[in-house]
Amino acid sequence: MSEGSAFEPGREPAASAAPSPVAAARAVPRHVAIVMDGNGRWANRRGLPRLAGHRAGAQALERVVRCAAELGIEVLTVYGFSTENWRRPATEVRGIMHILVEFLRLKTRDLVREGVRLRYVGDVSALPAAARAELERSVRATAQGRRLTLVLALNYGGRWEIVDAARRLAARAARGELRPEEIDEALFGRELATGEFPPPDLIVRPGGELRLSNFLLWGAAYSEIVATDTLWPDFDGDTLRWAVAEFGRRERRFGGLPGR
Ligand code: IPE
Ligand code: IPE
Ligand code: MG
Repeated sequence: MSEGSAFEPGREPAASAAPSPVAAARAVPRHVAIVMDGNGRWANRRGLPRLAGHRAGAQALERVVRCAAELGIEVLTVYGFSTENWRRPATEVRGIMHILVEFLRLKTRDLVREGVRLRYVGDVSALPAAARAELERSVRATAQGRRLTLVLALNYGGRWEIVDAARRLAARAARGELRPEEIDEALFGRELATGEFPPPDLIVRPGGELRLSNFLLWGAAYSEIVATDTLWPDFDGDTLRWAVAEFGRRERRFGGLPGR
């Protein structure tokens, strides 16, 4: 699954051609994950339909991807649609899927130009055929991108991801290919949908809520979390730089003692 992957979790990033001075000082997280929340409230406050908020959210994503690449972030994972978001009215779900298809159709060329490699995590088998087709096309078209990996979390849930990995490992065990005692955190982590990426160093939640909403549950074990009242459609490069600066002020201990 992780064959040919650009990342080896737990290893320092390979010295890239021209690391930015900030990245060299390790003030920049390798992997930033964002819960793109607040689109509906942004629209409500303007007397607009919720879908106008989702459309503005897609524009915010474009700005933030550009800034993330400039900052030297390696992986940007964005939560676009959760396994629970199907509870919304069918018209809103259809609208979100349509915006996704439009985004991929219109922006793939820009992603290629900017050196962005697109990937996705989530059970995309439940997405409309057009969305699946555009996703696969964009993943293929951007495969050579080396500046930033943009991971779209679509029909994604942290619990889904864990159960999905457990089910596949159980199937291998049932076929006699794996002994249960061989399953450890490293093996389990590699089996996850996000297993080819390093765990998120920083999780950013715009929209003011202080919860994970089923995002990256396994990977979030030692993520730094930054929340802001800024609604996702208002999020821009400055907001991302602020969140990264906030990350730089945290002391990550991973269960150890300070300053060691
Ligand atoms: C996030 O914005 C986008 C999705 C969940 C698809 P919301 O639509 O949740 O916006 P609020 O939280 O209602 O403002
Ligand atoms: C989380 O936002 C999911 C995405 C942004 C895709 P929600 O709006 O669905 O989260 P809750 O319902 O407020 O927890
Ligand atoms: Mg919300």
